[in-house]
Amino acid sequence: IRRSFLAASALSLLCAALPAAAQSPVVIKFSHVVAKDTPKGLAADYFADLVAKRSGGKLKVEVYPNSQLYKDGEEMEALQLGSVQMLAPSLAKFGPLGVPDFEAFDLPFIFDDYAELHKVTQGPIGKALFRKLEPKGIVGLAYWDNAFKDFSANKPLKTPADFKGLKMRIQSSKVLDSQMRALGVNPQVMAFSEVYQALSTGVVDGTENPPSNFYTQKMHEVQKFMLRSQHGYLGYAVIVNKKFWDGLPADQRKILDEAMVEATKYANDIAKKKNDEDVEAVRKSGKTTIIVPTAAERLELKKAMAKVHKEHAGRIGAELLQSIYKETG
Ligand code: LMR
Repeated sequence: IRRSFLAASALSLLCAALPAAAQSPVVIKFSHVVAKDTPKGLAADYFADLVAKRSGGKLKVEVYPNSQLYKDGEEMEALQLGSVQMLAPSLAKFGPLGVPDFEAFDLPFIFDDYAELHKVTQGPIGKALFRKLEPKGIVGLAYWDNAFKDFSANKPLKTPADFKGLKMRIQSSKVLDSQMRALGVNPQVMAFSEVYQALSTGVVDGTENPPSNFYTQKMHEVQKFMLRSQHGYLGYAVIVNKKFWDGLPADQRKILDEAMVEATKYANDIAKKKNDEDVEAVRKSGKTTIIVPTAAERLELKKAMAKVHKEHAGRIGAELLQSIYKETG
């Protein structure tokens, strides 16, 4: 009797546990501010699909695009409080968190191309930067590319003189503030979700974006000119709440880690292609004239903004900057 009683209790315990496990997966809310059809949006969805398959439904990544859940200026705090578990903010958005080191990536013309950039993001410098997030209760998992940025406005832009007196939207980065001031622009920090409206109502005259953000936010409808300056980089750090991450069982963390490696490869493989396609889509719309600067014109812009590196060496860390310069030749 005793044995059958034990067996029955074990069975009922198992039955109780099974549906509960099936019904309540560990949910990872992944919030971001861009459209689904962007390198980051696509990679976030790709990651969510991989995790669902690999975990047999035990882990569920819920992706909230388009600032649906949290906007710039809200999402970092939401991550620290554990209201959301995963984000992929632009590297230009870590200053307000007290880690201005990431603003090195905003420095004008610091990388010539993706290959130079990857030496930093995929090497020891990228890892060392992630360690700076841990005291803030955040773990860095990966760097995802978007692209190099272009300026836009309702007047043709080419030389530094063309920028004088314009008001332009920037991300919350002091380096970007200085970059704009170096061109005689009045910079305005603004959440990404508000940019389209600010451009359409004339609250700002222009902005800077990778083409994928420009096109998917329909900025081509409200900006007549785009200068293919590719003067600075915009990419992301995929980050998680540390307490949540450390509290996961090792086997679940392994599934997430492996899926993140694959999603990162996917993100970085599609980034350039997606941005090239979106430049073409802007061109085809016929609404924004795309101006391609000559090498000499680009050099003129570079010279006008060069002083920003020195201005921010102290804040960002002279040692970090030297190690980036060394890595990128
Ligand atoms: C921006 O605010 O312009 C970008 O950081 C948006 C993004 O996430 O690409």
